[in-house]
Amino acid sequence: MKTTVSLIKADIGSIPGHVVVPKPLLDIAEARMAEAKETGLINSYYVFHAGDDTELLMTHNRGEDNEDIHRLAWDTFMACAEKAKKMKLHGAGQDLLADAFSGNIKGMGPGYAEMEFEERGSEPIVLFAADKTEPAAFNYLFYKIYADPGNTAGLVIDPKLTCGFSFEVLDGLNNKSVTLSTPDELYSLLALIGATERYMIKKITRNDDGALAAASSTTKINYIAGKYVGKDDPVCMLRAQSGFPAVGEITSPFLHTYMVAGWMRGSHWAPFFPVGLKDSRCTLFDGPPRIVGLGVQICNGELSSDDEGNPIVVDLFSDPSFDLAREEALQMASFMRRHGTFQPARLGPGAMEYTTLPQCLAALEHRFKDED
Ligand code: F6R
Ligand code: MG
Ligand code: MG
Repeated sequence: MKTTVSLIKADIGSIPGHVVVPKPLLDIAEARMAEAKETGLINSYYVFHAGDDTELLMTHNRGEDNEDIHRLAWDTFMACAEKAKKMKLHGAGQDLLADAFSGNIKGMGPGYAEMEFEERGSEPIVLFAADKTEPAAFNYLFYKIYADPGNTAGLVIDPKLTCGFSFEVLDGLNNKSVTLSTPDELYSLLALIGATERYMIKKITRNDDGALAAASSTTKINYIAGKYVGKDDPVCMLRAQSGFPAVGEITSPFLHTYMVAGWMRGSHWAPFFPVGLKDSRCTLFDGPPRIVGLGVQICNGELSSDDEGNPIVVDLFSDPSFDLAREEALQMASFMRRHGTFQPARLGPGAMEYTTLPQCLAALEHRFKDED
């Protein structure tokens, strides 16, 4: 029987402002998940948060895009939103953009990444969840892990990896996708995914046998809402080891930081800040955009757990190995903030179209006079 791992997330309220999800909301999510496990809908779960986003990690046997699983996530977020409204939390129910569930959570506001696969003898999975940035923030990360032998030694050394990986890339502007195979089409891939304003990676498969290697969320929340409601804070999941990149190859891009779009009002270039779960809160200029990295293993359809049945989740970025990236990120944050709202600290005009800036510019339109 195949196993499915689903990571579904939404911003349904936080405190103070857009900083962190408070415990009462996580408790509701936890209770809903426990109930779903009890009824057999899901096999196991882990609830956590990435800044102001509530994250539901579930394992089950119902496949990707399953109506029952998506309804469970939607109902859970609705219950949390109700509590958030009672507590007058900021942005209560923010990402729940539809009135009622309609078969699939896609296009309704929450973001998700899912993978269905035949379990290997050992099935390690790494999950990343980020706040105050967008799915294309993973473009550079995925390139390093799956296409750069300078990062992933296995691309050179492991015969199962030498034939490379294929990337399914979404053109977010035209809602079209294309699949490119590396190493053959590496330069074409880079031509696309270097343009993070428009292109983002949906799925990655292994060329050797077509096995699913990684999946990422690609929600376009502002297109759905028709106005700025925040960035599409992304999640992704990657299978590791034995024919896939090792856990250490997956984390090693975070020896250093790199720049992503988001931060305050979804309008600024920012250094990506890898943090442990205890530091998953966007405090400084609503950031810097934070990313948590969790390591789990799947065992017979469930998250591997201890003797009491609690899932064993390894908080990868809580390790001091990532101190250098954090130090670099703070140095860069300081440098970028000195520019205020001037480019390049502020995003380019194309990206600013999807923020609240156009409303401010519209108010000036009638005051412009023609020049000779
Ligand atoms: C970015 C984000 C925050 C808000 C900012 C203003 O994704 O969520 O940076 O854009 O705090 O928020 P509001 O408009 O809710 O006051
Ligand atoms: Mg928020
Ligand atoms: Mg968020």
